[in-house]
Amino acid sequence: MYDVHSVREDFPVLKEVIYLDNAATTQTPVPAVKAMDEYFFKYAGNHGRGAHRLARETTNHYEDARENVADFLNADVKKTIFTRNATEGINVIARGFPWEDGDHVIVTLVEHHSNLLPWMRLRKEGVDLTIVKPDATGVVDPEDIASAVTERTRLIAITQVSNVFGSIQDVSRVIRTARREDVRVLVDGSQSAGHMAVDLGSMDPDFFVTPGHKGLLGPQGTGVLYIREPDLIEPLFLGGGMVRAVTDLDYEIEASPSKFEAGTPNMPGAIGLGRAVEYVKDIGVKNIERHELALAKDAARRLAAIEGVEVYGPKERASVVPFNVTGMNAHDVAMILDQTRKICVRSGYHCAIPGIGFLGVDGTVRASFALYNTQEEVDKLIETVLNVAAFVA
Ligand SMILES: Cc1ncc(COP(=O)(O)O)c(C=O)c1O
Repeated sequence: MYDVHSVREDFPVLKEVIYLDNAATTQTPVPAVKAMDEYFFKYAGNHGRGAHRLARETTNHYEDARENVADFLNADVKKTIFTRNATEGINVIARGFPWEDGDHVIVTLVEHHSNLLPWMRLRKEGVDLTIVKPDATGVVDPEDIASAVTERTRLIAITQVSNVFGSIQDVSRVIRTARREDVRVLVDGSQSAGHMAVDLGSMDPDFFVTPGHKGLLGPQGTGVLYIREPDLIEPLFLGGGMVRAVTDLDYEIEASPSKFEAGTPNMPGAIGLGRAVEYVKDIGVKNIERHELALAKDAARRLAAIEGVEVYGPKERASVVPFNVTGMNAHDVAMILDQTRKICVRSGYHCAIPGIGFLGVDGTVRASFALYNTQEEVDKLIETVLNVAAFVA
């Protein structure tokens, strides 16, 4: 185990607030911020462009960061692409996949809008879409996905951990079945990477996306896209940094990952992310998972025991705990938690209107945990929700 109190020293804002909105974005540790600081103050140049020392040093740090991230996810470094966020990665696949009229895509109802809208847009362009429903706790049965597969199915897009329910999907089973049918699988790891062990070598998805700014503790504006067969996908953006040769008639695209990183990349962000991933690795993702799950389990159990509070999601949950106080709007609850105890939680639809609609509510309050949260913080959350629920009773 690690000492959560010494970890908290690396996140100064935690002295000011109780931060339980980690499913939206996490805080970034001091060593990662220092790595970005060093980029700006010691060697800022452009990546892959130019022979001078600052350009070379920037390129080396940027590529080292890629190696750190690839190593952390157990992915081939040449197939590990930096993006702005998870959303960008999903859109790169949705736009770059070699679709044919009548092709079929399967998604689930628990997806974040970022893993729903890009596929819904394809429906307007001649691709069929099936949306598979979960059970009442947000768990999708892999058998239901398997039975939705037709001979025209080309891709299944599924989140590993739902940001609405906190449910964990058996993506490995979905991938194994899909591979037998020659169907590709995109795994949205936005709520899993950094929170639980993610080994792309053994999971073996065709595509995997994660933001850098959630469980990986990197800065906002960073993300990672893994593509198992980079030759399959047309790049979304064309321009500098991704071509090998250009004539006035044609151009020749670089191999992955450059192929997918047109234009000046977010060098400080990627470098900060590389350092943040090292930080996570040093603490150990298994330790982080154990810590977060214990907090989430305790919070869910104690919230559910409060009269007038309903908790959503399965018993075996990830570190996401959605709930509502009967008779109160989720935003009002979140506002009271902040105003009275500086407790920061998310409220509303969580960018997943269909998933929230499936719950039959008008939004939820969502407490989500990270490696730096403590039992005392859970106690304060419970105490405050108890007071709010007693007030409306
Ligand atoms: C499950 C899931 N997928 C995708 C996203 C989108 O991530 P980003 O905003 O970094 O693109 C989120 C963000 O909350 C998410 O929870």
